[in-house]
Amino acid sequence: MKLEAKGLKKDYTRAGKSGSVFEAVKPLDFALKSGELVEITGRSGSGKSTLLSMMAGMLVPTGGSICIDDMDIYAMEEEERSKLRNGRIGLIPQGNTALLSLTVLENVMLPFVLYHKEPPPEDRAKELLMKVGLFDMKDERPNALSGGELRRMAVARALLMKPAVLLADEPTAGLDDANVELVMELLRSAADEGASVLLVTHENEARKYADRVFNMAGGRLCSN
Ligand SMILES: Nc1ncnc2c1ncn2[C@@H]1O[C@H](COP(=O)(O)OP(=O)(O)OP(=O)(O)O)[C@@H](O)[C@H]1O
Ligand SMILES: [Mg+2]
Repeated sequence: MKLEAKGLKKDYTRAGKSGSVFEAVKPLDFALKSGELVEITGRSGSGKSTLLSMMAGMLVPTGGSICIDDMDIYAMEEEERSKLRNGRIGLIPQGNTALLSLTVLENVMLPFVLYHKEPPPEDRAKELLMKVGLFDMKDERPNALSGGELRRMAVARALLMKPAVLLADEPTAGLDDANVELVMELLRSAADEGASVLLVTHENEARKYADRVFNMAGGRLCSN
């Protein structure tokens, strides 16, 4: 699946200073192909998460377009876009997005449960929890998990639907070296199996897994 941004930008109007416009993402062109893992690094506040959220269909751009296989996702109705997002795009958002009332296993199965009436793919969810080293925690509630365990749970959840596009926002934040490697290898194998993978990170630990690396600074994307 090809994901392509053209002239994509995001401006925010800052509260406080009336009318002051902040260009979080300056107009950029970017394409992500099937089978590749692209890494975007950059300092805090440079616009990485804003870019990723727009790519994920979660944040309406101020200008430009994002096409998935030549379909403009922001020209679609909201309902159609959320279906596409759920079925084809796996998102690992920044921070903790666990639902506290569900168990770890239920959290991982959530992307399926939201849009299907059939029983969820429990075996696949368990297999993914095994892969991220959380199988023994499957019946716990998220508040019993450490920060790094919650990141790994989010990775398992994003992989559940075998997404064609995988967008990961600092998926390895707070992980030790062995778990960084584990998560990066899962992302790399998703790409090797044909997914288009976009990874945003603060640091550069993921460089050796990436096919291409970009740097973001002040809302501008530069190839590295
Ligand atoms: N809803 C919003 N309203 C106004 N400004 C915003 C909003 N969301 C983000 N920003 C601003 O846009 C800039 C880019 O934010 P973004 O979250 O994309 O940065 P980032 O590169 O992901 O940073 P980090 O590495 O800390 O996660 C920041 O200066 C932020 O304050
Ligand atoms: Mg961010």
